[in-house]
Amino acid sequence: MCGIIGYTGMRDCVPILLEGLKTLEYRGYDSAGITYAKDGVLHSVKAKGRLSILAERLTEPSVEGATSGIGHTRWATHGAPSDKNSHPHSTETLSLVHNGIIENYAQIGDRLSREGYVFLSDTDTERAAALLDFYYKEVKDPKKAIFRLCRDLRGSYAFGILFRSEPNTIYAIRRDSPLIVANTEDGCLISSDIPAILPYTRHYYRLSEGVLAVLSGKEIYFFNEEGESVSQTEEVVSWNVEEAKKGGYHHFMLKEIHEEPEALRKTVEPRIRDGFVDFSHELPDDTFLGSVKRLHIVACGTAMHAGLVGKSLIERYARLPVNVEIASEFRYRDPILEKDDLVVLISQSGETADTLAALRHAKSKGIRTLAIVNVIGSSVAREADDVLYTRAGPEIAVASTKAYSVQCSLLYLLALRLAKLRNTMTDGQIAELSDLLLHNVPELIERTLEQSEIVRRVASTIKDAEHIFYIGRDIDSSLCTEASLKLKEISYIHSEAYASGELKHGTISLVTDDVPVVALATVSKVCEKTVSGIREVKARGAYVVTVTTEALAKQYEIPSDEWLILPNADERILPFSATTVMQLLAYHVSALKGLDVDKPRNLAKSVTVE
Ligand code: M6R
Repeated sequence: MCGIIGYTGMRDCVPILLEGLKTLEYRGYDSAGITYAKDGVLHSVKAKGRLSILAERLTEPSVEGATSGIGHTRWATHGAPSDKNSHPHSTETLSLVHNGIIENYAQIGDRLSREGYVFLSDTDTERAAALLDFYYKEVKDPKKAIFRLCRDLRGSYAFGILFRSEPNTIYAIRRDSPLIVANTEDGCLISSDIPAILPYTRHYYRLSEGVLAVLSGKEIYFFNEEGESVSQTEEVVSWNVEEAKKGGYHHFMLKEIHEEPEALRKTVEPRIRDGFVDFSHELPDDTFLGSVKRLHIVACGTAMHAGLVGKSLIERYARLPVNVEIASEFRYRDPILEKDDLVVLISQSGETADTLAALRHAKSKGIRTLAIVNVIGSSVAREADDVLYTRAGPEIAVASTKAYSVQCSLLYLLALRLAKLRNTMTDGQIAELSDLLLHNVPELIERTLEQSEIVRRVASTIKDAEHIFYIGRDIDSSLCTEASLKLKEISYIHSEAYASGELKHGTISLVTDDVPVVALATVSKVCEKTVSGIREVKARGAYVVTVTTEALAKQYEIPSDEWLILPNADERILPFSATTVMQLLAYHVSALKGLDVDKPRNLAKSVTVE
């Protein structure tokens, strides 16, 4: 939710800021803005819409020679996307960019209106900037003023601030929103995320909550609220800038789907030893898992859908009850948590506000927490009692693909480890499944990817539909929830996922002539039932696309108008292949419609606000 970048140093700052914003655009892209300092004066340029509009407004030579500035790309929370609501927000004394939500902004606004402040935007951020201005005029010290501001704020923030009195110094502070700072050979940077600093350095500091960073252009200083100098731990990025580029694909989403085999290898391989799942590198003693009585998997969106797959696997293999919870509900509904429960948080970014709040809620109740996270060192990873990292590498497209696949694979591993500790499977059964995950899944996905052109052709037959339904049973119904989300978020086609037996209890009234119904049939024990569901929708005129193997199609005489045939493989790993096919289907529908696949409307990659 919103991307922040800042640079102060020896180089021209505007190209650096624009490049950084381009990289951070996945965090929000409804408007953007920059404040740069030139000849001791702060100038702000802002624009509703994509970054290219802002870039056009930043015409040289006026920006040439400006060596410090802050920039922002926005995902609107308070006030519609517009020039006036874009960041930075400026006052007589300062200019500020913000990622997060100030919950008490209305009270702050009322208070400052009485002091004579007039607001030009609808944003919470402008109120925060004004309050900082108010305190700065009073104490005449940026550090003291910033800490006073932070004491008054409720909600989440990462701020980058330039004061008119010190135009070459950037101040940065955060609470519940990510922010990193970095020192390079010729300047200092702040950023919401790592990819934006990678062209300049691999070394960075993840700013601790409540620590103020002061970037002079040559050095970075850190201070606590008492004004004392404090230290921060330097971290080094382990992946490179190439991994975050499109690498010849039209879209990041397609590239990331093609990275699934490698991501799966990296996630599974290090955790299989002598044929069994082994978490000892990350969880030195995981025997506590054996005494867990109930799991709560808590996450949002795609990560929550991976949790549904995890529930199927863990209940099937380890016979352990699993609740899957939407994080935004979990945190407020006072869930029943008992001492032998384990709360598992799943998150690609590790910064999702609701997931982080759910984690904190579980911890406040004394419940042990385990995070499954992709971004190393992210908030969820750091705050959970234990963490298992997925190894998807950077995921840039807003629509999550490879992250989901590796989350499912890690949950598969967790199910097998639990099965071992709880003696619910024989060693032979566990070893056989571990081997399938290790050796067969990546290769299965590679074979699945070869069908991309076939999927594209099928996509062309459904791309103009208004509504599309996904049906399946057992684990297929969980896969359908994700398939449906993928389609609707990037193609804007209304879509719903149903356990196929449930459709006839109401929703089938929406199935009329030519409405596409995508049927997943990968589980032989319920295939006959899925076939009944297909017959029911076909009888009402539906255009059915069935996703299955050739063998199942023949054996169960599945009736269908169109096919997406999965490669032959052991049924227990077919969900991975079906997932990839469904992701490709959503991708091709969106691409064929000429939509912005990687940056669908109204969305952002990392949802760091409630
Ligand atoms: O970073 P997270 O995994 O915590 O994000 C959770 C959801 O916002 C995310 O999975 C979202 O639903 C996907 N980007 C949709 O493709």
